[in-house]
Amino acid sequence: MPISYFEKTKTFKLDSKTSSYIIKIYDEGYILNLYYGATIPDSYVPAREKRPTNASFSLANPVIGENGFTPDTAPMEYGCNGAADFRISALEVRNRNGDGVTDVRYTGYKIYSGKPQIPGLPSSYANDVSEAETLELYAEDKVTGLEITLFYTVFSEYGVITRHVRAHNGSDKNLEIERIYSCCVDYPTSELDMISLCGRYSRERNVERHPLVPGIQEISSKRGASGHVRNPFVAFASKNADEEHGDVYGFNLVYSGNFSAAAECDLNRTTRFIMGIDPTDFGWLLEPGADFCTPEVVMVYTDNGVGEMSRIFHRFYNNNLIRGRYKTEKRPLLINSWEAAFFDFDDDKLVDFAKEAKKLGIEMLVMDDGWFGKRINDRSSLGDWSVNEDRLHGGLSSLIERINAEGMKFGIWYEPEMISPDSELYRAHPDYAVRVKGREPMIGRHQYVLDFSRGDVRENIKKQMYDVIANNKIDYIKWDFNRNISDAASAQLPPERQKEFFHRFVLGTYEFMDWLTTTFQGILLETCSGGGGRFDPAMLAYSPQIWASDNTDAIERLAIQFGTSLCYPASAVGAHVSAAKRTGIQTRGNVAMWGTFGYELDPRKLTEDEKNAVREQVREYHENYDLIRNGDLYRLVSPFENRYRAIWEIVSADKTRAMLTIVTKLFENGEYLILKLRGLDERKMYKNSLTGDVCSGALLMKAGVNLSGVANWDGSSKVIYFDEV
Ligand code: GLA
Repeated sequence: MPISYFEKTKTFKLDSKTSSYIIKIYDEGYILNLYYGATIPDSYVPAREKRPTNASFSLANPVIGENGFTPDTAPMEYGCNGAADFRISALEVRNRNGDGVTDVRYTGYKIYSGKPQIPGLPSSYANDVSEAETLELYAEDKVTGLEITLFYTVFSEYGVITRHVRAHNGSDKNLEIERIYSCCVDYPTSELDMISLCGRYSRERNVERHPLVPGIQEISSKRGASGHVRNPFVAFASKNADEEHGDVYGFNLVYSGNFSAAAECDLNRTTRFIMGIDPTDFGWLLEPGADFCTPEVVMVYTDNGVGEMSRIFHRFYNNNLIRGRYKTEKRPLLINSWEAAFFDFDDDKLVDFAKEAKKLGIEMLVMDDGWFGKRINDRSSLGDWSVNEDRLHGGLSSLIERINAEGMKFGIWYEPEMISPDSELYRAHPDYAVRVKGREPMIGRHQYVLDFSRGDVRENIKKQMYDVIANNKIDYIKWDFNRNISDAASAQLPPERQKEFFHRFVLGTYEFMDWLTTTFQGILLETCSGGGGRFDPAMLAYSPQIWASDNTDAIERLAIQFGTSLCYPASAVGAHVSAAKRTGIQTRGNVAMWGTFGYELDPRKLTEDEKNAVREQVREYHENYDLIRNGDLYRLVSPFENRYRAIWEIVSADKTRAMLTIVTKLFENGEYLILKLRGLDERKMYKNSLTGDVCSGALLMKAGVNLSGVANWDGSSKVIYFDEV
């Protein structure tokens, strides 16, 4: 049983393949976290129960007395605001008297097989009940009537625990939630590094690693979306942890809106970490009898380094988060019109693209932005989702028939949550745009955001999309989101609920995505936001792939894809070969191959040599499809740490094949390079596709392969296979 309760010690133990997690019910119902780390046989860790009480004027619970326990320093399982725990709190609820003192204490528990879904929010799932076990811990604030349920689901085979929280108003008066984080984790140390993914447009998810320092350190987004700048991912690593060794704790929030991930190190050198919806611009009015559920946090622990943490996330997301037909079915190899034509296309040009692409082995043409309303640039028509027949003569059905006649599938671009001021929709319904009464809203890329917290607004867009999709043979949709949300308010919310806007917007988006993916189950959905601004695990519950960046330069993609791989599997990473010319087509292909793979260029402009290279890439794509999507990733040389090159290896689950990719950023004079492989079977014999040498897995991992001179000039690359013989 992964979850057990021990009456004698009043402890709960959550065991996974890689971790143990121990919760203690202390005197007066305080819920404490005694342990999270490598698997231990014990069910109680007395050493962790009490902390020094001399933080400052550390205050005592009047019943327990001043006997060495204070909420100020205790390892609280879910730290609340205002009752003598002065650290960053996971929960603050304003009550009928107007104060925000919140103090929930244990009342009971339930343990059961399987995993519940979270109403209105995407989350991971168990494929069958035996795969997961769930603990619900109940707690109550007796003064205010607030009831809290802490949910923990253990996926023991993966080393994963998922968590979320439900609040229930058990009183007869309104309560106002000011903050409600999805998890709170206590570390008895602050000797940890914090790893996060930070960036900007076209430089998404660069890896940042810093030692924790006293005080609060936070990564967050207040953009209304997860965004390019910070990703809802954080890991804590022991100082000596590297790719293959050391303690690593990974946290990923399954949410696409404003988030906060904050760590506070106190003067006892302990650390509290909380992750969830950002409390800034958030509030929720909880009426008597009402519930509020937080999004889910996926927690991974391993003592085998950052690389193993990533592999656990990858397996878990591929098997227990991504859903629908294309979780397992092979996805069509696509070519996208955006970088090939931008807004300059008509039906004939698209058919020409399809014709040429088909000859190269590509399977689907995606018509990007510019097909609807009167859109010929980014200044108009978002919200008017009817085909522009001045461009697509004969309409959409005729275009799709012509594309299909070339033997190609067809995909289309949408930006459902947006509205152009220059659109029929805006002229008819200016109140559909997100705006504050009396203020001119900020504009971004000449567009406003549609108020997706409103059901009537969503219905309008759903109907428009339904008319197009239901009447045409559409195999794929790219769902874009090209600005952030300012002037956040909804014309339909009363003043006391305006703080709910951001979260209601996200819930509206999920409701819409759920409708789209259940109404049109055959369609492959890819999400996107000005490149990679929407890379979060919640999106993966609807779209098995997410466009990783508008930056398609192969060298710059190395950093973006390395960073993304910290928690997201290659199956999800939208990556295309474009015409960006800094590297040759081989290197662009070798880098994009470490993702969904596809093209984003004008196939008519390729030289004969380039066409042959594309045919070869298409062959390699098919040959390695399963290996790349389901294999184990080893990041051998990181572009963040090495100025000359990046190297990664993908090993099949049965360890019969490994794919090693070497990309040189900069020529290194006089280089001699021996590289040890990882993840192979020591006893198997493997043939090196470059040299023909046959060696044992043990040799390849312990003595290494000689890569001196292999693809060592600027922008060059090489893929070497190691197949069992
Ligand atoms: C965003 C996307 C691009 C493209 C354009 C279209 O920037 O990231 O791939 O779809 O929008 O306007």
